[in-house]
Amino acid sequence: MTEPAPLHPIEKAILTTLTASGENKIGLEELASKSSHSIDQVRRGIEWLKAKELIRTEEKELTRFSLGEEGQTVAKLGLPERKLVNLIRNSGGTIDLSTAAKSLGAEFAIALGRSKKNDWVIVKDDRISLTSKAEEKEPEEIILERLAAVPSIAQEDLTGNEIESLNDLRKRRESFVRIGQSKSVAVGLTVQGKSLATSVNPNEIDAITPKLLQSGEWKSKSLRALDVTSPAPKLYGGRRHPMRMFMDEVRETFVSLGFEEIFGPISQSALWNFDALFIPQEHSAREMQDTFYVSGLRANLSDFKDHIKAIKSVHETGGNTGSAGWQYRWREEEAARVVLRTHTTAVTISYLAKNKPEEARVFSVGRVFRNEKANYKHNPEFFQIEGVMVGEKVNLRNLIYVLSKFYAKLGFNEIKFWPTYFPYTEPSIQTMVFIKETQRWMELGGMGIFRPEVTLPLGVKNPVLAWGLSLDRLVMLRYGASDIRQLFGANLDWLRNLQVTKV
Ligand code: PHE
Repeated sequence: MTEPAPLHPIEKAILTTLTASGENKIGLEELASKSSHSIDQVRRGIEWLKAKELIRTEEKELTRFSLGEEGQTVAKLGLPERKLVNLIRNSGGTIDLSTAAKSLGAEFAIALGRSKKNDWVIVKDDRISLTSKAEEKEPEEIILERLAAVPSIAQEDLTGNEIESLNDLRKRRESFVRIGQSKSVAVGLTVQGKSLATSVNPNEIDAITPKLLQSGEWKSKSLRALDVTSPAPKLYGGRRHPMRMFMDEVRETFVSLGFEEIFGPISQSALWNFDALFIPQEHSAREMQDTFYVSGLRANLSDFKDHIKAIKSVHETGGNTGSAGWQYRWREEEAARVVLRTHTTAVTISYLAKNKPEEARVFSVGRVFRNEKANYKHNPEFFQIEGVMVGEKVNLRNLIYVLSKFYAKLGFNEIKFWPTYFPYTEPSIQTMVFIKETQRWMELGGMGIFRPEVTLPLGVKNPVLAWGLSLDRLVMLRYGASDIRQLFGANLDWLRNLQVTKV
């Protein structure tokens, strides 16, 4: 036989109490009072013992009696016949019939009838007098008192006579006594329970106290064993949001590849978000249904006069880039509109315009906004991982190499690079990852080499390798989220139980 699990003091108390009551099953209330524990403690203990098959419980449907509202009043004031007896006693043991009748009103007839039947009074010459029997209680009074003292009584705790008296009370007025049903639990020992109960040591102690140590008493006591395998409530400490954790991982990865982080504002002029990227002013991406404009705001572009001149000319005619441009009239008012950045490329571009680097390796991570309907893979706001490498000799192979390295460091090895189109890069590439669950390719981001139409007006002479990647989709893949909205929601269960180590 395997060693039985250590018993909790409540369990011991229950077993001992049950043993003391012999073969009988006993009810929950009785068990609680006899074992000196609360009903709740006993209920818990019963569940534990049941799981160990040491006790058995039986549910019984019980009929219970209790006093109705009128029953409570009558218990306090007395039944009519008792009222009559009290009246007579107060007037010295005898009273005029007519005085009594006036005093008791409508109850008089019944009061007199019952008192006579009980031999409590005798009537003679229009006077009522008490007999010595008037001090004896009638059965209906007795049961009324009993019921008044407790919330309710179960039928099985009443004698046949008592039940009869209850019925008599109900015959007087049904609403005196309420009848209800309730469930009760009776508890008894199983065979294993019986044999274990005899070996229960009620003197085991739960904890060593300073007192026990000082007195040396602990030496003669045995300590209760603890079951360290029993389930305990889970505790959740505070933790960073998976998006934040992943962002930091992205940062570390780029830093480990020799990059430096740059930052930029969330709202931008269209100049940096669109125009400097050689995106024509009628381009569909600029329209309201794709882009959030900040209404009533115009950017102050007075610091960028030279840039504006060069950008205008490259849009209109290609300027000195060798390109023909887009052949339309470029307007500065359009470039001064303020947008919630639709991509972090705006951060890169203003960095390039400001620093005109000959060589650089920079990245940024930030939130971007697009006026799109939310679905499982699109959200109107999401995060991008952006960056550039500038250098005299950088080329497409370097770009693919660095980004493959980046993805591999984050644990994504099955990445493909496909040709695509962006107005500001040539060639343009997109990265895709294959999702086994849906058997589909999912786009992770875009990249390419900035066109001369982008870099020359900014004063950057060397080639610029650029990329803008989705952060959210990587987080989804990493943490197995099937819906991008999950990342922005408050599903605590998911957040708490997320495994954060790399898989
Ligand atoms: N800005 C593009 C996007 O938001 C990504 C990109 C960045 C493409 C840089 C090429 C170069 O999807």
